[in-house]
Amino acid sequence: MSKFMEWVDARFPATQMWEDHLSKYYAPKNFNFFYFFGSLALLVLVNQLLTGVWLTMSFTPSAEEAFTSVEYIMRDVEYGWIIRYLHSTGASAFFIVVYLHMFRGLLYGSYQKPRELVWIFGMLIYLCLMAEAFMGYLLPWGQMSYWGAQVIISLFGAIPVIGDDLTQWIRGDYLISGITLNRFFALHVIALPIVLLGLVVLHILALHEVGSNNPDGIEIKKKKDANGKPLDGIPFHPYYTVKDIVGVVVFLFVFCAVVFFFPEMGGYFLEKPNFEQANAFKTPAHIAPVWYFTPFYAILRAVPDKLLGVIAMGAAIAVLFVLPWLDRSPVKSMRYKGWLSKLWLLVFCIAFLALGVLGVLSPTPERTLLSRVCTVLYFAFFILMPFYTRMEKTKPVPERVTG
Ligand code: HEM
Repeated sequence: MSKFMEWVDARFPATQMWEDHLSKYYAPKNFNFFYFFGSLALLVLVNQLLTGVWLTMSFTPSAEEAFTSVEYIMRDVEYGWIIRYLHSTGASAFFIVVYLHMFRGLLYGSYQKPRELVWIFGMLIYLCLMAEAFMGYLLPWGQMSYWGAQVIISLFGAIPVIGDDLTQWIRGDYLISGITLNRFFALHVIALPIVLLGLVVLHILALHEVGSNNPDGIEIKKKKDANGKPLDGIPFHPYYTVKDIVGVVVFLFVFCAVVFFFPEMGGYFLEKPNFEQANAFKTPAHIAPVWYFTPFYAILRAVPDKLLGVIAMGAAIAVLFVLPWLDRSPVKSMRYKGWLSKLWLLVFCIAFLALGVLGVLSPTPERTLLSRVCTVLYFAFFILMPFYTRMEKTKPVPERVTG
């Protein structure tokens, strides 16, 4: 084996890569629960790619056959039902895992210097993931696929001057048709997965260049032993590869419970109108996007003007990109920030969750008012951040990691 590795290493840096990224990559020893979600995101990504390839083998991307080909997968293809449920549940699981992964970043200031690029690559992944989920949702050609896409694509029509031409260019037709389905299929199956994979590689390379943050927000590279190893670090492999298996096992228990017992998740993972084939002449009574888009959908609806609504929705995502430059706190972790930061993070999370719920429900005057309040709080968290992070009193950060 060692002779073989010598032969390989003389031609390709296999051992070097293994050491740089696993056996000699020193990670802080105080990782907690929130650090499971990076590796879980990788696991879900692999699940989506594998099940996606197998679905593609039996799916027909045409307006005439897409819906029935999904039914064919569910009823006739051997194990087709499990492949589809793994993929549809995987889509929701992806967002649950990624939202918790992002929340960890907010909690411990992982986006702060020197990890700005890790965060930016993460945000690009998030954008790509949203595009991927949106396009994938059109493919089964159900009523919600069709009308959800109709609502979102028509938003581009609000852009002055080029709006109408742009929507037509996206659809490739005067209305959503088989042509739209076909191009969404190409993008969902080939183009976006390639971009997503590339971004994940960049995300991890950027992280390994600077090293991982931790719940104390301490730079472990600052305190090294005589051999130059961080005193508060442990090799990623075997310590965290083994620890991550615990997260994987717990995750798979929950994930499989959903796949086997509640794949529709009460209409949240697979929406009820989508069991009916797309019909351009029959608008469903209530159109709502899948749960992971609803906070942004609620922001869109909270603004009375269509164009301003689209701008607000875009800004709600764009503002996350500049987060590393909004946080002026001298400390990273919420553990050592002042009460104002803690309060605002709490307010932000409540507003985000409330928007998520409001985006699912049909609008009433009271709900619209509440959406507006939550939208203001959502943006206030970011806009006021440079002020409250600078004026509050922080706690002293310990020299070495705790707990
Ligand atoms: C496909 C989606 C993603 C995958 C596979 C992924 C993967 C990973 C992995 C494996 C790590 C190292 C382990 C860990 O710290 O948990 C990590 C760290 C990180 N990720 Fe992601 N990630 C994804 C999406 C995102 C998104 C959407 C963001 C934020 C916008 C983000 C921000 C970060 C940050 C800031 C870190 C460093 C955390 C620290 O050192 O404390 N990631 N990611």
